[in-house]
Amino acid sequence: MYATVGLSHQVSAVVMNPHPVVVVTRKLPAAVEARVQRDYTAILNPPDVPYPSATLLAKCAGAHAILACHTDGLSADVIAQLPDSIRAIGNISVGTDHVDLKAAAARGIIVTNTPGVLANATAELTILLILGAARRAAEGQRMIRSGEWNSWSPSFMLGTEVTGKRLGIVGMGGVGQVTARRARGFDMEIHYYNRHRLDARTESGATYHENLDTMLAVSDVLALHCPATPETERLIDSRKLALLPDGAIVVNAARGSVVDEAALVAALQSGKLAAAGLDVFDNEPHIDPIWRQLDNVFLLPHVGSATRETRSAMGFMMLDDLDAIFAGREPKNRVA
Ligand code: DGY
Repeated sequence: MYATVGLSHQVSAVVMNPHPVVVVTRKLPAAVEARVQRDYTAILNPPDVPYPSATLLAKCAGAHAILACHTDGLSADVIAQLPDSIRAIGNISVGTDHVDLKAAAARGIIVTNTPGVLANATAELTILLILGAARRAAEGQRMIRSGEWNSWSPSFMLGTEVTGKRLGIVGMGGVGQVTARRARGFDMEIHYYNRHRLDARTESGATYHENLDTMLAVSDVLALHCPATPETERLIDSRKLALLPDGAIVVNAARGSVVDEAALVAALQSGKLAAAGLDVFDNEPHIDPIWRQLDNVFLLPHVGSATRETRSAMGFMMLDDLDAIFAGREPKNRVA
């Protein structure tokens, strides 16, 4: 099974132990974890709390791969300190902004991710964010749970109807495309901004905008699905928010870094935006306390791909690639 070792100390580790040693940084779905334990010598993390860098580095001594996720900070500095025995970092995530890919490539460490399989789950979550924000779900929940709800009137808790409205999608990859399909179920008019225009069949009548500004001007609802990269950092700032129609809704199922949070808060407080639906934040899980105070924000704790079906599919995809790497084959989802 283990065909890619090149260094003598790695070979001797494998002679002692025929299964590559894999550091699993967080608790995986049961069936995924069972397969890791069957096929590898797994160093698990039963408390399921994120490892500080020093702990992760200590666990990696003599290990051959790390199975990581977005809560791990695999910076250039950490990657530089990994032992030579580490051949691969498999991520149970499509986002790889937590890994310094250049640093990994420089050390010859293969990095993989899990694209595609989370599109349905994350698109479903996006629709939840849109509806939750539009129909003031956070405020309604709070009123019921606190006992504050004591009357009804025809003007009580009026929200925004999304049927027939214009949805602007930033990032038309797998998640963006499924979100567009689901939103068409609400007769929404789809607009998108993407690095490349899609082919006509995939575009399916959506309007492509080469320029983000022109799309913002027609987005009653703005959905963010682009990867977190240096180019998308704070992509949605106060100037961009000002371009949206008054009373627009912003939902973010990508990464907190794509938005200037202070600008988003200001737009929500001023009434420029009717509402926001957020699944991702700066500094998770220690989010800015202001988010808890705003009634017009529907909040979820980074659960876009968190369904049993999808997390298992992501885990198996990651393991298929790990198996390929240790069998000397090219993994399907290599990002470095
Ligand atoms: C992803 O796959 O990037 C999700 O945000 C979970 O990390």
